[in-house]
Amino acid sequence: MEVLITGGAGFIGSHTYVNLIENGYKPIILDNFSNSNKDVINHLQTITGQEVKFYTGDVKDANLLNQLFSENKIEGVIHFAADKAVGESVANPLKYYENNLYSTILLLKKMEEFGIKNFVFSSSCTVYGEPKELPVTENSPIQQAVSPYGNTKQICEEIIADTVKSNKGLKAIALRYFNPIGAHSSGLIGELPLGVPANLIPFLTQSVAGLRGPLQVFGTDYPTPDGSAIRDYIHVVDLAAAHTKALEYAAKQTENSFYDVFNIGTGKGSSVLEVILAFEKANNIKVKYEIKPRREGDITAVYADTSKSEKNLNWKANKSLEEALKDAWTWQKNITK
Ligand code: WQD
Repeated sequence: MEVLITGGAGFIGSHTYVNLIENGYKPIILDNFSNSNKDVINHLQTITGQEVKFYTGDVKDANLLNQLFSENKIEGVIHFAADKAVGESVANPLKYYENNLYSTILLLKKMEEFGIKNFVFSSSCTVYGEPKELPVTENSPIQQAVSPYGNTKQICEEIIADTVKSNKGLKAIALRYFNPIGAHSSGLIGELPLGVPANLIPFLTQSVAGLRGPLQVFGTDYPTPDGSAIRDYIHVVDLAAAHTKALEYAAKQTENSFYDVFNIGTGKGSSVLEVILAFEKANNIKVKYEIKPRREGDITAVYADTSKSEKNLNWKANKSLEEALKDAWTWQKNITK
């Protein structure tokens, strides 16, 4: 099956590209390279040993989508392309609403026009906000988003659900990611944030590589065992595999229109201080850090109940936190070279 991966040169998209090839799919990448590097294409060719088919451009370009869908026999779409920096979304909400919402709307319109039925959407656990109960299931309450970024994910899920209800033959799955970390074992692809990393692991690895000052731990006064905030860190290779499983699950649905959501995490919560210790143990290296006040908008704890994904998608995260932290450090050393 030919599958379009929008944002396929990005962190999760590139790892999903590899998993699709490993499972016999024919993925095609669409990326405007606004938040990814063209070198990724060469690295994907090295990892897979195959020529990468890709289009350079924006998902919001209707003519480009017409060309893409006319020139190929695409039967499935995995939609990653979006802006995803929580802090930036607060400073520049219209950029986020225009890009993240319109790209999804146009893609769904073109899929209907070209009779493409299978759709996997990149959503986020951020829709759960500060959960009252843990672990969160797919039925846990959706909370008022704390950032425009999180709000775009919630609105896109609603857009997709309403489109499915209009019974145009769309079979759609939304994957709610927890915290993706790590890198492909080859060390050729990984997380490459532009500028100062907002996320914990890229900042930590850049700090240990001497590219940044000490890691700042944002708050140790949370109501958690060690006071630091808890998240569900999932290896990006495990996360990538979930997309292939989701595509297969959508494709085998016999109803004309179908929509469902799945938590994609490990089911295990780790605190910031536990992650630092795990990184030091996995890589036999010290992490210099300073304790700082809480970051605006952060929640105390969230981690996944993944039983629905395990049962329906026949998918489970296999890789450990230590393995992800080892792979993240290998990747950092390669790009720092
Ligand atoms: C993790 C923990 C921080 C940096 C966000 C989005 C989510 C997804 C992943 C896109 C928190 C702490 C962080 C640092 C720190 N985004 N931290 N020092 O905020 O859980 O999730 O990124 O797909 O949708 O909401 O991830 O990595 O920023 O933070 O102490 O320098 O690490 O306070 O507790 P977050 P994060």
